[in-house]
Formats: sequence, structure tokens, C-alpha cells
Amino acid sequence: MRTQVGIVGAGPAGLFLAHLLARRGIEAVVLEARSRAHVEARVRAGVLEAGTVDTLANLGLDGRMRREGMVDNGLDMRFRGRTIHLDLPALTGRSVMIYGQLEVVKDLIAARLEAGAPLVFEAEVTRLEGLDGARPRIHYRQGGIDRVLECDLVAGCDGFHGVSRAAVPEGVIETYSRAYDFSWLGVLAHAAPITDMTYSNHDRGFALCSRRSMTISRLYLQVPASDEPANWSDARFWDELHTRMFDADRSEIQEGEIFQRDVARLRAYIAQPMQYGSLFLAGDAVHIVPPAGAKGLNMAVADVRVLARAMGDFFSTGSRKGLERYTADCIDRVWKTIRFSISLTDLLHVFDHHTPFQRGLQMAELEHVASSVTAQKMIAEQYVGLSSVSD
Ligand code: APR
Ligand code: PHB
Repeated sequence: MRTQVGIVGAGPAGLFLAHLLARRGIEAVVLEARSRAHVEARVRAGVLEAGTVDTLANLGLDGRMRREGMVDNGLDMRFRGRTIHLDLPALTGRSVMIYGQLEVVKDLIAARLEAGAPLVFEAEVTRLEGLDGARPRIHYRQGGIDRVLECDLVAGCDGFHGVSRAAVPEGVIETYSRAYDFSWLGVLAHAAPITDMTYSNHDRGFALCSRRSMTISRLYLQVPASDEPANWSDARFWDELHTRMFDADRSEIQEGEIFQRDVARLRAYIAQPMQYGSLFLAGDAVHIVPPAGAKGLNMAVADVRVLARAMGDFFSTGSRKGLERYTADCIDRVWKTIRFSISLTDLLHVFDHHTPFQRGLQMAELEHVASSVTAQKMIAEQYVGLSSVSD
């Protein structure tokens, strides 16, 4: 099999890239190790920056998001029983969209399959060959048979544990990372959400109340790294959430049946350069954000917008200039976005190693945000998104 761009992975990065390339008339084959059902069942964050919404709109894939998504104009932070309300349009002129990443992925898959464009599930890429030449080859295994996809360019969109980054020769890529010794327990519950997206820093730990619809809440608690979903009965979860959200009389947060639970370890990671020869890496394959701020999908989309444009120039003019600049065009935004996610994480979580002095400094920073419109603007403009690249 031969194509112009071989895309490894059908997460948000690979799927958005495939659509952006198709719009430019560029052929691609997407190879995904897991089944469609598996990919469509992975629950992730649900906040889309304006740039991500614009990309969906430009692709003509925003129909269901416009009907079912919810424009979100607010971001609240609680501490010491008080609430700081960030009015996003007033502070930035923009807002964000609440629409689950899972739903975005389903929409992108359905549209690609409807168009009859190649997207192969249960096709695990095992090896990349010839990345330093003009004819790279992707080796993959499908239905027990080893196959090869020849292409002009390879897009490594296969997440943190994928094969693409690992195919780059040693010494080319520098990595930077920060580990956290806690996780987020996330649940979905059949319960009407509270009015605003609300982050809370309580002495017992961080909590977050988000939503997926008017009847489904998406809720998170900071838990020890080794914790497991099974340790959290519904009753224990609700008790802890009320406490950490300063809702002691249980008048604010509605309870309901919890129908999904997951635990995810927090980590920050950057690999650079984001390319080697004919291989271009995007999304979780080259950077991981801690989840506060919900930047994972938005970062992946911002990456592939730049990449699709550079690939478009390459196939229409033969010029490699845009491709050569891919890392340079992305990397400042990547560092800034990870810096923001880390600063939000640092501001809102309880750290075991913190001394009372450090806890005092954290509270002082929240007091400063509460009293300074400038400080609120700094958070809000990063929350709505820094990406300025158009499609
Ligand atoms: N062959 C083919 N596919 C692979 C291989 C492989 N060897 N290894 C991994 N994959 C697939 C995974 O099964 C997954 O579907 O690559 C995909 C990577 O998708 P994500 O992990 O979602 O990464 P990305 O598309 O960069 O998404 C960025 O979305 O999923 C979230 O946490 C992620 O928020 C982040 C954002
Ligand atoms: C979510 O809705 O899943 C969500 C919202 C905000 C975050 C992270 C996740 O910071």
C-alpha cells in the first residue's frame, strides 16, 4: 500500500490531521492499534478552546458540537470557602466550549469513514523504517498479517507510549519532565452539574466540578498516586466532594448514580525537536500536560494545524521550508501551555511535601488572584487558549 502521509494513531491528533490534510487534497492512511469501540470509549477531558472550535467549524464537523456542546463563559476557583469568579468574555473577549473529547473523536471517525477515507482499526504499527530518506515505510500488523505502508511523510500521532518517538535515533531528542506523586480520580455521574466550572483548593486536596450536559456531571478529586477507582464507593466520593467544594450542608452539589470512574496519574513531559527526517510527531507523542486546564486535546489540535499547513506546502510546491520549521513553529506555544498547566496545578493542589510556609504562599497567591483583575486576566487568557494559528 502507498500513500502521501502515513498517520500512526487515531486519537485526536491523528484524526484532526487526517481531516485537515483531506481538505487540502492530500491522501493519508490512518493506522490505529485499537478497535473503533475501544477508541470511542476512552473518557477524557471536555473543554475546547476557541481555536479548536474554529478548526472543527472549518472542517464542517461542528454540527453535533453546536447542538449538544455548551458555551462556557466562567471559571471559578474556591479556597478558604470563598469563590473567585473569572468571567471569560469580560476578561478575554472569548469563551470555551464544553464538549467531551470522546464526542469529538466519535464525530471525526464517523466523518472519515463516511467519506470513504482510509482509517484502519486494529492495525498496530510495529516499526518505522527509512525515516532519514524520502521513502519511509511503516510496518504494521493487521489480522495476524504483517503489512507495509509506503509514504512520503509519516505523522507520529500515537500518544505517549507509541512507537514513533521511540523510532528516532538516540541523542536526537531531548526530553524534559516533571512527575507528580498524586492522581486525579475522575467520575461521570447522572447528576445536574453546578452552575460554573469550579476548581477548589481545600486542605484535604483539590477537587473539580465540570459537566458534560445538563444532566451529566464530570467530577474529579486529587487522590494518592497509587489509589484505585474501586476504593471509592459512591458514598465516599460524594462525602469527599462536598467537603472539598466547601458544600458542607450539601445544598449545592447534586448527587446521582456514578456510572464511570478512572484514575490518571499527573505528569508533565516535553520532547524536542518534534521531528526527525520524514517523521513529524504531534500531540501526546511529544508532550503531556497535567490535566488542570484541559489542554491535552487543544495542544494536539494546535500542533496538527501547523503540521497540516506545512505538509500542504510541501505537496503543492515541493518546498520543505514549512516542514523544517515545524518544531520552531510549535515549541514556544508548547512550553507556554505546559507552563500554564503546571502553574494551575501548583496553585490548586495540596502537596505532601509542602511546609506550612509553602501552603501560606499558595493561599497568598489565591488571595492575589481574588483581588487583582490583572492576575485574573493572566489566567483567563491562557485558559481560553494561546494558539493563534489559523487553518
Ligand atoms: N500503532 C497504531 N496506533 C497506536 C500505536 C501503534 N503502535 N500506539 C498507540 N497507538 C494509538 C493509540 O491506541 C491511540 O488511539 O495512538 C492513539 C494516540 O491517541 P491519544 O493517546 O489520544 O493521543 P493524541 O491523539 O495525541 O491526543 C492528545 O487527547 O487522548 C487525549 O490524553 C490525550 O489529551 C490528550 C490528547
Ligand atoms: C473536564 O471537563 O473533563 C475537565 C475540565 C477542566 C479541566 C480538566 C478536565 O481542567
